Amino acid sequence: MLPARKAQVPAATRGAGRRPLLLLLLLLLLHQGAQALECYSCVQKADDGCAPHRMKAVKCPPGVEVCTEAVGAVETIHGQFSVAVRGCGSGLPGKNDRGLDLHGLLAFIQLQQCAQDRCNAKLNLTSRGLTPAGNESAYEPNGVECYSCVGLSREQCRGSAPPVVSCYNASDRAYTGCFDGNVTLTAANVTVSLPVRGCVQDEECTRDGVTGPGFTLSGSCCQGPRCNSDLRNKTYFSARIPPLVLLPASTSAAPAPTTYDDKHTSTFPTF
Ligand SMILES: *[C@@H]1O[C@H](CO)[C@@H](O)[C@H](O)[C@H]1NC(C)=O
Ligand SMILES: *[C@@H]1O[C@H](CO)[C@@H](O)[C@H](O)[C@H]1NC(C)=O
Ligand SMILES: *[C@@H]1O[C@H](CO)[C@@H](O)[C@H](O)[C@H]1NC(C)=O
Ligand SMILES: *[C@@H]1O[C@H](CO)[C@@H](O)[C@H](O)[C@H]1NC(C)=O
Ligand SMILES: *[C@@H]1O[C@H](CO)[C@@H](O)[C@H](O)[C@H]1NC(C)=O
Ligand SMILES: *[C@@H]1O[C@H](CO)[C@@H](O)[C@H](O)[C@H]1NC(C)=O
Repeated sequence: MLPARKAQVPAATRGAGRRPLLLLLLLLLLHQGAQALECYSCVQKADDGCAPHRMKAVKCPPGVEVCTEAVGAVETIHGQFSVAVRGCGSGLPGKNDRGLDLHGLLAFIQLQQCAQDRCNAKLNLTSRGLTPAGNESAYEPNGVECYSCVGLSREQCRGSAPPVVSCYNASDRAYTGCFDGNVTLTAANVTVSLPVRGCVQDEECTRDGVTGPGFTLSGSCCQGPRCNSDLRNKTYFSARIPPLVLLPASTSAAPAPTTYDDKHTSTFPTF
């Protein structure tokens, strides 16, 4: 190896006249490498906004090296819906999946980033059950009624406009509280947010939330028939849980927001 390299050095020195050509070749290579990445772009907000015929392909700004797609599915005991974003991303290629549980509201987040043109259409954004689909009419109502918003727009989910559902106890868990809150997904410089209402396992929670990469599910719980018509102003009384800080869309390039995973960790021994 060494002799070969020694032989190359004088050759390169002698070939000084070829340098402009090498420079040209280098510039050409750099130019090719810097050609704009092309990514699919769409927003799915409880509709089929990311269906193949509704997606656009966009050229990303210079410096963007990954396409991104993110989907967040939310499941209440009365149904599930998802929000999703595809577009030009930031950061590194990779995957991140996470399951979250907020007082019996389930969320499943999938994030996929990749470095090839139009590579961000791999996740199946079709709504799918997180738990075995239950036969709702087979469950006995537990007497609690809540407003239910599953994939409804903010207008449809205002005050007492949304449909009312009867809560039931599912898999040995008592869903005797009502919830009013939001799901928010931020990716590719876009933030999608939809209201979430339904039956939960807590009757007291205030501005509680769970977060995943670019994802937040947050809101408040209440007790009593149809009590979840507007919990926006529910008094913040618990010092245990810090209020949620929702990141503005422009900070999507920043590291993933703080997780609240350790929130429920007891500081006392369990026995
Ligand atoms: C996202 O927005 C920021 C600030 O507006 C901008 O600097 C950045 O280039 C954008 N990124 C993408 C991928 O569009
Ligand atoms: C996406 O998921 C749905 C529901 O699980 C399934 O019916 C469908 O076949 C899947 N589509 C693809 C392309 O995998
Ligand atoms: C659901 O349960 C009800 C009551 O047990 C039963 O009548 C109905 O046939 C079930 N439906 C399905 C799709 O299994
Ligand atoms: C549901 O659970 C609650 C709390 O454990 C209990 O009081 C209630 O009787 C249960 N209702 C049904 C229909 O199982
Ligand atoms: C849900 O989000 C909307 C819009 O950001 C906000 O006005 C509302 O207060 C939120 N609702 C709850 C219950 O936090
Ligand atoms: C919630 O608080 C806002 C601002 O203080 C106020 O304008 C609004 O009327 C309140 N809503 C309810 C339902 O109390």
